[in-house]
Amino acid sequence: MTQAKPPQKPTASRRAVIAAGLGAAGAGALNLPREAPAQEKTPADAGTSSLTFSEVPHGLDNTHAVAPGHNLQILLRWGDAIVDGAPAWNVAAQSGAAQALQFGYDNDFIAFKPLPEGSNSSTHGLLCVNHESARNQLMFPGFTSRKVNDQTKELMDVEMAAHGHTIVEVELKDGLWAVVAKSGYNRRITASTEMDIAGPAMGHARMMTRDDPKGVLALGTLGNCAGGETPWGTVLTGEENFHYYFGGDPRSTKEAANHLLYGLGNDLFHGWHLHYARFSVAQEPHEPNRFGWVVEIDPYDPKARPAKRTALGRLKHEGAGCVLNADGRVVVYLGDDEYFQHVYKFVSRGTVDRSDRKRNWGLLDDGTLFAARFNDDQSVTWLPLVWGTGPLTAANGFANQADVLIDTRRAAALLGATAMDRPEDIEVNRVTNTVFVALTKNARRGDEKVDAANPRAKNRWGHIMEMVPADGDHAAATARWQILLLAGDPAEPGTKAQYHSGVSAAGWLTNPDNFTVDPKGRVWISTDGSNDFGFADGLWATDVVGQGRALTKAFFRCPIGGELTGPTFTPDGTTLFCSVQHPGDDGKSNFVDPVTRWPDFKEGVPPRPSLIAIRAQDGKPIG
Ligand code: FEO
Ligand code: CA
Ligand code: CA
Repeated sequence: MTQAKPPQKPTASRRAVIAAGLGAAGAGALNLPREAPAQEKTPADAGTSSLTFSEVPHGLDNTHAVAPGHNLQILLRWGDAIVDGAPAWNVAAQSGAAQALQFGYDNDFIAFKPLPEGSNSSTHGLLCVNHESARNQLMFPGFTSRKVNDQTKELMDVEMAAHGHTIVEVELKDGLWAVVAKSGYNRRITASTEMDIAGPAMGHARMMTRDDPKGVLALGTLGNCAGGETPWGTVLTGEENFHYYFGGDPRSTKEAANHLLYGLGNDLFHGWHLHYARFSVAQEPHEPNRFGWVVEIDPYDPKARPAKRTALGRLKHEGAGCVLNADGRVVVYLGDDEYFQHVYKFVSRGTVDRSDRKRNWGLLDDGTLFAARFNDDQSVTWLPLVWGTGPLTAANGFANQADVLIDTRRAAALLGATAMDRPEDIEVNRVTNTVFVALTKNARRGDEKVDAANPRAKNRWGHIMEMVPADGDHAAATARWQILLLAGDPAEPGTKAQYHSGVSAAGWLTNPDNFTVDPKGRVWISTDGSNDFGFADGLWATDVVGQGRALTKAFFRCPIGGELTGPTFTPDGTTLFCSVQHPGDDGKSNFVDPVTRWPDFKEGVPPRPSLIAIRAQDGKPIG
């Protein structure tokens, strides 16, 4: 644990880079950041928004900024010890074995699971954290660019161990969080950890490999982006950009159409196939079929093997928003983060047993997956992905339900699901009993493809949709949808942005990505893409009912190149945990000359993705 140090002075070359970024935004004549006075308070929203903090202005800096009156703690950095016996992080002597005991890279989704289990504690619990990716140009000494095939096997092993998930016990004492260093709960899950393949695709021929001839046991999880929490205390993690990890040309394999649809053939970043045959598509054409799933992890049982829940479909999974439906079934909302891909939900067949967490292990293996059609009359039709019905038959190459799930994207398209503007996180608001969907952007949408649910061509800014289940029943066959906001700068008519009219120069946002909902039902929105508009990504909050609906207010700003992900509150709302991913990755930055050294600000130490904890100075609930 460390406290953030004061910002370093940007070097001359880095100042030029920052200025160039601003100039680029201006050159496009779009969204030039307006001057915003520090700690802006907009008179228009006085008495309108329920949120009481003063806003953080748009800006681009080598450090973070948080709304005044809050303390920010850097709780976990890439490389910090997690498992008892982990060596101290040494950037000059990294190894896969050490990294497998340390906090991974590019932390993303966070769940806070109270201890003792079943309690509502906001001072003691487990942090469950995704590690989405690895960026060798910022991780390894001497690297000046994102290298691919000339990495050593040792560095690839560091990358593999830097992926996956962390579970770590934490406690709040005197207003500061601390890791419980020798906790038996502390655990790392990596790109090599054994996990069960569960549900309808388990044991299917297309899941079999040389290492696993039965198709039941996968090694590792990849691209762990957003996630969710089940009503029985486990955590779900979405495998998103798994295609980056496979080398070779998929067109020579029997799975060519499948692999091309999921983006394989673009191993730009890793080269793992050069040392590990399972990442070579030509040698193991089925291995990619074992990724792209939602993985369930039991954080309260450190011995429990994670399980890939294939009934929830194979996508570039982002969030997994769970809700306990009134009839006792669990419903999981899912998004596929890709241009023109779809929104889904899974409805379990069985009901949740509240008496014992373990009795629900496997509940997500049996149920129905649906894809969403967003009709122009603002209704939603949920289309079941059930083998043997409609177009999901042998005539279209589906021999069974496993085929439908392995080829989820193709099945949804055949059913007529709506092609969306990159569905990222999806979150159930338990206060309003409605569902929020982040649609991050889609500049590829032409005028001819605009529809009511994706209303802007060349959508560079993204939008947020709210779904209202029919009669409050999340298992129902229909729902209603409405737009919460159209992102972008509302002062630029060309954006056609839509918010509450009182939104300030700091309050508008772009490229919504992740959500969390606070105990009062306000929605907190993190972004991924503001750097393209000349200011940093961060966290905004808004009421979703009453006079303050869509009056977004800026709460936190990342250091340059960083992306805010995984926001989550303790049950009482007094601590907000967030991930700052890839700080310093402005597209040009590298280990030798990083644009920032956040959060350590030490010469020779690169920027480090970190998990932060924010608390109000008065200790009251945030917001
Ligand atoms: Fe990993 Fe779609 O963000
Ligand atoms: Ca995301
Ligand atoms: Ca993202």
